Amino acid sequence: MTSIVKINNLKKSYENGNIKALNGVDLEIDEGDFVSIVGQSGSGKTTLLNMIGALDIGDEGSVEVAGYNLNKTKKLNNFRSEKVGFVFQLHNLIPNLSVVENVEIPLYVHKMSGKRRKENALNLLDLVGLKDKAKMKPTKLSGGERQRVAIARALVNEPSIILADEPTGSLDSKTSNDILKLLINLHEKENVTLIVVTHDLNVSKLANRQIEVLDGKIVDSNRSFRLSYFF
Ligand SMILES: Nc1ncnc2c1ncn2[C@@H]1O[C@H](COP(=O)(O)OP(=O)(O)OP(=O)(O)O)[C@@H](O)[C@H]1O
Ligand SMILES: [Mg+2]
Repeated sequence: MTSIVKINNLKKSYENGNIKALNGVDLEIDEGDFVSIVGQSGSGKTTLLNMIGALDIGDEGSVEVAGYNLNKTKKLNNFRSEKVGFVFQLHNLIPNLSVVENVEIPLYVHKMSGKRRKENALNLLDLVGLKDKAKMKPTKLSGGERQRVAIARALVNEPSIILADEPTGSLDSKTSNDILKLLINLHEKENVTLIVVTHDLNVSKLANRQIEVLDGKIVDSNRSFRLSYFF
């Protein structure tokens, strides 16, 4: 099995070293896997996800994702725009743009006609069941619909890896299930590697592999978790 993520002794601190967000993380993730990341608030999950997606860089150690050495490459923009799709808890949609224009954003880095860009974005909106709302502003949509737009936007570049930070955190359980089904479907059909940070035991259970972050380190990913994390 090929690893799509290889992390070695990754360290990251904030506030002049006073806060050690990551304290020597070693982690390999197989290509095409579905991994959940759990752990207490403040344990370092978002920091880790941001490093995998090159939104931030570590102080020490190495991070290799989809063949890019993120500490060394001068092509971080290519990496971000071609390899990763991000789904955040707060979907970060741009309120002044329509739904379809929001989904088109990641395509601007490619040489692509406006017509093709729109076609691609509409295909993804179709996939998440929102083609009929393409022209609306995201402020008119429900929370679940906005999250589906964010997923369409994360996927429009056909990434190899999807990084989702509490993608269902602000949604009711029915809507959460719909969003998860969507992500899992993509993972299964397209062999996309799916990494989901979650506090939700039901979400975590669906993954092939569970990883726990404790005080900035990965602890054994096969042990059973303290249930208190999820309540
Ligand atoms: N930009 C920053 N500046 C200073 N400290 C930060 C910054 N980002 C994160 N931290 C600190 O680093 C530690 C890890 O934060 P992180 O956001 O990775 O936690 P988390 O596991 O995602 O928590 P949560 O479950 O609450 O989202 C925390 O102590 C946090 O306060
Ligand atoms: Mg977080």
